[in-house]
Amino acid sequence: MPDFIADLPKAELHVHLEGTLEPEMSFALAQRNGVELPYDSPEAVIAAYDFHDLPSFLTIYYKAMEVLVSEQDFFDLTYAYLKKAREQNVLYCEPFFDPQAHTTRGVPFATVISGIHKAQEQARTDLGIESQLIMCFLRDMSAESAMETLQASLSFKDWIVGVGLDSDEKNNPPSKFAEVFQQARAHGYKLTMHCDVHQHNTHEHIRQVLDDIIVDRIDHGINTLDRSELYSEVARRGLGLTVCPVSNRFVVQNLTTAEIRRMLELGMRATINSDDPAYFRAYMNENLQALVDDGMTRDEIAQLTRNAFEVAWLPTDRRDHYL
Ligand code: ADE
Ligand code: ZN
Repeated sequence: MPDFIADLPKAELHVHLEGTLEPEMSFALAQRNGVELPYDSPEAVIAAYDFHDLPSFLTIYYKAMEVLVSEQDFFDLTYAYLKKAREQNVLYCEPFFDPQAHTTRGVPFATVISGIHKAQEQARTDLGIESQLIMCFLRDMSAESAMETLQASLSFKDWIVGVGLDSDEKNNPPSKFAEVFQQARAHGYKLTMHCDVHQHNTHEHIRQVLDDIIVDRIDHGINTLDRSELYSEVARRGLGLTVCPVSNRFVVQNLTTAEIRRMLELGMRATINSDDPAYFRAYMNENLQALVDDGMTRDEIAQLTRNAFEVAWLPTDRRDHYL
């Protein structure tokens, strides 16, 4: 790993906390909570990872998170990620969490968010890493369920900076959640949505996030490059795009180095992120290293890293502190 990657002060804007669940922690939590795992060892868990598209990844991801039950579990998960990120010189991050993946299993919203929030506070004090939480709705669940989740979040509004939309994109367009996102904005939340790579109807989905939802950022967004009316609008608005190269290599068998370079050439504010680092076996530095191994220059890496601080949902004084 070149020192310049390790030493760069970084921000991460697209990481699912549930996607940071390392197999070793799965085993520890399973034992703590009396959950049976169908594997003998952490190595066997990794050997069973067989992702070739979004649904095949999501099936494994949702099953694995059943070991997360108590507030302490969510604390441990979050603190471990923040510690790892800080060790890689990530100074600021905006992690996602998926409350519906837990409330549907009977884990109360308050349990999930309290554990996460306490870990954020402790990591800020003890490790010097700042973070702001983004709540994602699961797009393969109903708009009513998303609305209930939005309502549940309001008691914890000060702990959440924005809302996002993740899970299986097929037949779940942004427009399905237009009302939920409109209300979220009225409550002061920032808005982002996944526009995953090469999904069915992706161009229409991107059009909707730009024109109808009016997002503050786009997660992934690689397919904006296919249409000039999409990429020119993203560039004109200075919208951030949270690209996840190693995740892309798993989900669409393409690290998307050329696409990321093209975004920079077009003046789009692309950023690099890990998405689900425990599953894709790559945190921030490994994502940046993969791009360097694929020919990306030091200047490009520096620009991508700077972009992340520029499009972070920080007040101006905090942003200036990092830039
Ligand atoms: N949830 C966790 N990771 C995801 C991804 N890459 N796309 C959609 N939903 C997700
Ligand atoms: Zn994601």
